[in-house]
Amino acid sequence: MVNGKIKYKQYQLSKLRIINYELRIGLHLIISILQKTNQNLFFNITKLIYNKNNVSIYLQLFLNKKNNFMSQEKKFANDLIDFIYASPSQYQAVRNIKAALLKKGFKKLDRGAIWNLQKGEKYFTSKNSSAIIAFIVGTGKIEDKGFRIVSAHTDSPSLKIKPEPEIVAENSYLKINVETYGGAILSTWLDRPLSIAGRVSLMSKNPLSPIVKYINIKRPILIIPNLAIHLFRDVNDGKKFRKQVDMLPIMSIIKDKFEKDGYLKKLLAKELNVNAEDILDFDLNLYEFEKGLIMGENNEFISSGKIDDLSMVHAGIDALFNSISPEATNVMACFDNEEVGSGTKQGAASPFLKDVLKRITWECSIEKDAFMRAKINSFCISADMAHAVHPNIPEKHCPVARPKINGGPVIKFNANQKYTTDGISAAVFGMLCKKAGVEYQKYANHSDEAGGSTLGSISTSQIDIRTVDVGNPMLAMHSIRELCGVKDHFSMKKVFDEFYK
Ligand code: CO
Repeated sequence: MVNGKIKYKQYQLSKLRIINYELRIGLHLIISILQKTNQNLFFNITKLIYNKNNVSIYLQLFLNKKNNFMSQEKKFANDLIDFIYASPSQYQAVRNIKAALLKKGFKKLDRGAIWNLQKGEKYFTSKNSSAIIAFIVGTGKIEDKGFRIVSAHTDSPSLKIKPEPEIVAENSYLKINVETYGGAILSTWLDRPLSIAGRVSLMSKNPLSPIVKYINIKRPILIIPNLAIHLFRDVNDGKKFRKQVDMLPIMSIIKDKFEKDGYLKKLLAKELNVNAEDILDFDLNLYEFEKGLIMGENNEFISSGKIDDLSMVHAGIDALFNSISPEATNVMACFDNEEVGSGTKQGAASPFLKDVLKRITWECSIEKDAFMRAKINSFCISADMAHAVHPNIPEKHCPVARPKINGGPVIKFNANQKYTTDGISAAVFGMLCKKAGVEYQKYANHSDEAGGSTLGSISTSQIDIRTVDVGNPMLAMHSIRELCGVKDHFSMKKVFDEFYK
C-alpha cells in the first residue's frame, strides 16, 4: 500500500486457453500457498484474474517489493520493542531469553551438575540470573569446526536503588535514594514517569541460598522533577548534575515521617505477596515507564530505552533460533555489567564463556588438546551498538568514517585496541555482510575524542579467539531514550544468520 492506493502491475503468465474449472481452482490453491510463503519472495500475489474475453491468465503482483520487505523489518523491530519493554532490568532480560529458549527446545543446564551433551542438541546455562550463554552443539568435529560466538550485554545505564532508601523532604515528599549505574545521560532521566524492576532476596531455610523473586512494578511511581527555569536561569547553558542531590526521584506524599520506615519493603512485599519481614535485600533499578516505538515519516527509527545493547541480544538470539544442525558449535553469549567495565563474575571479564566452551569441548572430544585446537578454529562477533554521525554535531565524528542510521551494521576500529577489530577480523565480517546481501559501514573515533570501549577486548583477555567488534549505528547512546534504525536491526540479524550457517 502506498498512500492508501495499491500499486500493482499485471504480469501475463501465459495465454493458456483455460476453460477448465478444476484447473482454475488448482491455480488459486498454488497462489494461496505462494502468498503464505511470500516472506521469501518479497512480493504479494494479490489476485488471479481470469479474463474470459481474452482467455488469458494474469497475476497481479505488488510493485512495491521493498515495502513488503520493510514490513518484515518492522515486525522484527516491533518484536525488539516488546522484548525491551518486558526486560526493564538484566534479570527480566535473562528470564525472557530463557523462556524463549525453552520454547524453541533448548535444554537448561545447571552449572553445578554433570552435563551430558549430544551433538546437534541445543542448551543454555546462566549465571547470577543476569548473564546467559545459549548454544547448539555442532555436528562436526569440534577441534576442526570450533565455535561461532556472538556476544552482547544485558545491562544498561540506569539509577540503582541504595540500601534503606527512604528519605523525607519538607516533611511530606518521600524520596528514594539512588546511585547511578554506568554512564547514563542524567538530564534524560528528568520529568519522566519511572518504575522499578529487579530482584528481591527473601529469608530461606538455607542461609547460603536465599529465595529470589523477580519484580517489575509496571506502574509509573517515581519521577525526578526539573527545577523551574525561573529559579535557574542558566539551565540551558549546561547544568552540572550533583548525583546525590539532583537525581533523587520522589515516590509519594506522606503525612508523617514514621510512614517512611520500610516504605519500599512494604511496597515490594505487597507486589510479591510476601511478608515484608522476610525481605532481606534487593537489586533494583529504575526504568522509564513509557514503552518504545517505531517512528519517523517513513517509520525508519526505533525510539526506546536499552537499545544498547538489548537490540544485539535480541538479534543474536533470533539468529541462533534460525540455525539448523550447524557443523560448528554456535554460541550466543549475553554478559552482564558491560556498562561498569565487565569486571564481575557475570561480566565479559569473568571466565564464564571460557568455562562453558571448555565443558562443551570435554563432552565432545577425548583428545587432550581439543580445546586449544577448537579455539584456533573459532570466531567471535562482539556485538554492541555503535555511534551514528550526529546531524547537529557532526564535528565530533571522524571526518571520514561516519556511519548513518539505516546505512547498515558498523565495524568498529580503534588503533589502541579499545575495539578488538583488526584488518583480518574486519574482513571476515565484511565477507559475512556481502554473503548476507547487507551493506555495512565502518567507524573510528575522531582522533581527539576518547570514545568508548566494549566487550571484545575484555572477552579476548579471557579467551583468545579471533574477534571483531561491531554494532548497529545509533544516536543518543546511554540516553533513557535511544534511537536506532528499523532496517539496520533486521540487517544485523541477517548477518548473524549467515555467521551461524
Ligand atoms: Co553497550
